[in-house]
Amino acid sequence: MRIIVSPDPVATGASAAHAVASAADHRPDLVLGVATGSSPQPLYRSLAILVRAGLDLSSATAFALDEYAGLAPEHPQSYHSVIARDVTAPLRLDPDSVHVPDGAAADADAAAEAYERAITRAGGVDLQILGIGTNGHIGFNEPGSPADSRTRIVDLTARTIADNSRFFPDPAEPVPTRALTQGVGTILAARRIVLVATGEHKAEAVARAVAGPVTAAVPASFLQRHPDVTFFLDETAASRLSPTVRVQPVNA
Ligand code: GLP
Repeated sequence: MRIIVSPDPVATGASAAHAVASAADHRPDLVLGVATGSSPQPLYRSLAILVRAGLDLSSATAFALDEYAGLAPEHPQSYHSVIARDVTAPLRLDPDSVHVPDGAAADADAAAEAYERAITRAGGVDLQILGIGTNGHIGFNEPGSPADSRTRIVDLTARTIADNSRFFPDPAEPVPTRALTQGVGTILAARRIVLVATGEHKAEAVARAVAGPVTAAVPASFLQRHPDVTFFLDETAASRLSPTVRVQPVNA
């Protein structure tokens, strides 16, 4: 595991974007795993600048990590909409090559299996972009998610629902409580993982993920078992890491 600390969220995003761009340079038909949430936004914005400067991602394929259950894809806060807005358009990806789990499917189990099959058919994910929840979740794999879990329907914790309520300000509209998410095992199958975390509110989750015990209580701690993970952090998100962890590769 590598830890790269930058002064602020913009610099963190730029640093992570260069890692993604160099992977795409080596492999134009890159299979990218994409995360929603605010943490990867500066990464996408930096990557979009590189695309406007000539980086060509038009042959890439993308798989989103997750989607709210029961939310229409057209809803502005559905991850279908967020990915289209924040990823597909600015990165000039081919919309037909961007996949998001079907959270509105009547048969969620069938939709989950179909999503796993689509990732396998694409040859697996080359580079997975991840954020981290304040409770250590990755995708929507809440505490208790096993290391070998695959794409499935899950219940969100009260903390995640509260964290996400900022995207659903209308009191008449309930915050989604379930989601279809890639499993921890699905995420760990990616060949390379880039996690972005910024802000003091992520410091505890980051410290537990990087240096705590590997446990389902902190799903991001399973990343310690992956051979190629880089955490891109800003100073505040890195503030609870010991200096030794910050300057030396962990488990390298
Ligand atoms: C949601 C997403 C996660 C994301 C997390 C953190 O739960 N499903 O993929 O990592 O939010 O979001 P933020 O980066 O906005 O804090």
